[in-house]
Amino acid sequence: MKNKSINKIAIVGTGFVGSTTAYTLMLSGLISELVLIDINSRKAEGEAMDMNHGMPFVRPVKIYSGTYSDCRDADIVVITGGANQKPGETRIDLVNKNTAIFKDVVGNIVKYNTDCILLVVTNPVDILTYVTYKLSGFPKNRVIGSGTVLDSARFKYMIGEHMGVDPRNVHAYIIGEHGDTEVPTWSLASIAGVPMDAYCKDCNSCDSESFKETTYNNVKNAAYEIIDRKGATYYAVALAVRRIVEAIVRNENSILTVSSLLEGEYGLSDICLSIPSQVNSEGIARIIKVPLSEDETVLLNKSATALKQVVEGLKL
Ligand SMILES: NC(=O)c1ccc[n+]([C@@H]2O[C@H](COP(=O)([O-])OP(=O)(O)OC[C@H]3O[C@@H](n4cnc5c(N)ncnc54)[C@H](O)[C@@H]3O)[C@@H](O)[C@H]2O)c1
Repeated sequence: MKNKSINKIAIVGTGFVGSTTAYTLMLSGLISELVLIDINSRKAEGEAMDMNHGMPFVRPVKIYSGTYSDCRDADIVVITGGANQKPGETRIDLVNKNTAIFKDVVGNIVKYNTDCILLVVTNPVDILTYVTYKLSGFPKNRVIGSGTVLDSARFKYMIGEHMGVDPRNVHAYIIGEHGDTEVPTWSLASIAGVPMDAYCKDCNSCDSESFKETTYNNVKNAAYEIIDRKGATYYAVALAVRRIVEAIVRNENSILTVSSLLEGEYGLSDICLSIPSQVNSEGIARIIKVPLSEDETVLLNKSATALKQVVEGLKL
């Protein structure tokens, strides 16, 4: 019988995102066992070796490369395997390549574990969260996409930088698709409990409308800009995944903009996208009904429609 005190995570895909996530989890002290799985088993092996040599400097965690059978007793399986965006490629462009890979990956995981939480990071993350939900047969609360947790972090960082405020004191969410149709919910944004519009009015040091437009564009285009310069993005997303894992492992009931299946919430169904959701050891405990402005509702519907069109073209 499994020792309940063991927090075991499996990561499938040990490229830039998977290996950085592994390293971030190694440093976190949150987990006691981490298995790395990749179609390129030597890459997974090398990453495990490299991390293990730093073990005297961190709290003990058993890290090793393995195969799908090592997912057997994992609490969370993080999926980062697949193709990444090339310069100029959108996340949606990756859909066919990565859906094919997911048929293999998800099929292999569920052979050994039907009790874990599946945490999808590979892009297009909302589509692949939906694909994973369908292929796994898991209840919807246990299939989570990292969604716009990263985008919300970028949003908070950029607002904090502009305002000269610690980003941890900025409450602001990006919702919808993790991608080109994502939605900034300015109407919900606040600093120290002060709604953003009131904060801007009081500060009155810039044109707040152009600040909003620039910030949104910078958040939405962040991955393109980074990929253009260094070929991939991985540090911030790894921290976002660590944050989601933390909320699950510590049963925190944290509100995070993860992607999950909607069944009527916001009038949307049979689609995965990000909405502020309560995350605990069960996975998604609740999708929060946040009061969106009319404009934000229109944009969320557009985002859902764009995702739906892709989902309808899927051959599962
Ligand atoms: N959700 C987010 O916020 C976010 C952020 C950044 C990147 N990503 C996505 O994460 C994914 C990984 O990006 P990356 O930069 O690490 O790419 P990468 O090419 O460095 O790594 C991908 C890894 O997947 C492995 N792989 C491929 N097919 C596999 C299979 N069938 N089974 C197991 N492993 C397999 C490869 O061997 C490789 O090691 C991409 O889809 C990227 O777009 C998501």
